[in-house]
Amino acid sequence: MRRKLVAGNWKMNGLGASLAEVDALVAAHPAPACEVLICPPATLIHRLAARAGSAISVGGQDCHAAASGAHTGDISALMLQDAGASHVILGHSERRADHHETDADVRAKAASAMDAGLVAIVCLGETGAERDAGRALAVVAGQVAGSVPEGVNPGALVLAYEPVWAIGTGRTPTLAEIAEVHALMRAELAARFGADAAARVRLLYGGSVKPGNAAAIFAVPDVDGALVGGASLKAADFSAIIAALEGAPA
Ligand code: PGA
Repeated sequence: MRRKLVAGNWKMNGLGASLAEVDALVAAHPAPACEVLICPPATLIHRLAARAGSAISVGGQDCHAAASGAHTGDISALMLQDAGASHVILGHSERRADHHETDADVRAKAASAMDAGLVAIVCLGETGAERDAGRALAVVAGQVAGSVPEGVNPGALVLAYEPVWAIGTGRTPTLAEIAEVHALMRAELAARFGADAAARVRLLYGGSVKPGNAAAIFAVPDVDGALVGGASLKAADFSAIIAALEGAPA
């Protein structure tokens, strides 16, 4: 009932020449068995959407909570949608750290994204210090409560568990730790929206997902796919992760 999703987060990487990687991905996966999404820098959304056709969905990496207005340098959800995006990543830990985004900010952005018809990929995850202090579950539960808006369409909500200490480090939680957090996210959603709605929300793992560890992570219960940073920049690596998700248990 949940379509598996592998999302590439290019972060602040990618120029026009990077679209060659997209061509290679489309050639390798013309009709993927899971949903494949790339979130390039905003400057490439329109070109990537035109180039990738129906094989690959395109998303933004952030949006403003307002639909328009005097916010120099910002992009609204409606603008992303107008440029060809169908998804948007919100509340990534780099934005929470670099731009001081709070749970309330992320919640407002997610509501705005859904109003614009976008799928909101809300990122959550504890820092290393929080995990060491035994607070990982409490932190993630608090972020689910604070960052997910009321009245969500469960099909338009994705939660990405991205432990901050695993992003770009080559370190990952154990499979048991991933399972524990994903079960918690599902339970928190069920407590708030009901079990049926919670069962329709896709839960991604993110943080140092690579071709070598993807299959094991995708076999963890309640893992519906991945949010991939560094390994999404090269078609060969991302292709191997897509193939792992295509072969994952239903
Ligand atoms: P990484 O990044 O795959 O390079 O660890 C993941 C992310 O930040 O979404």
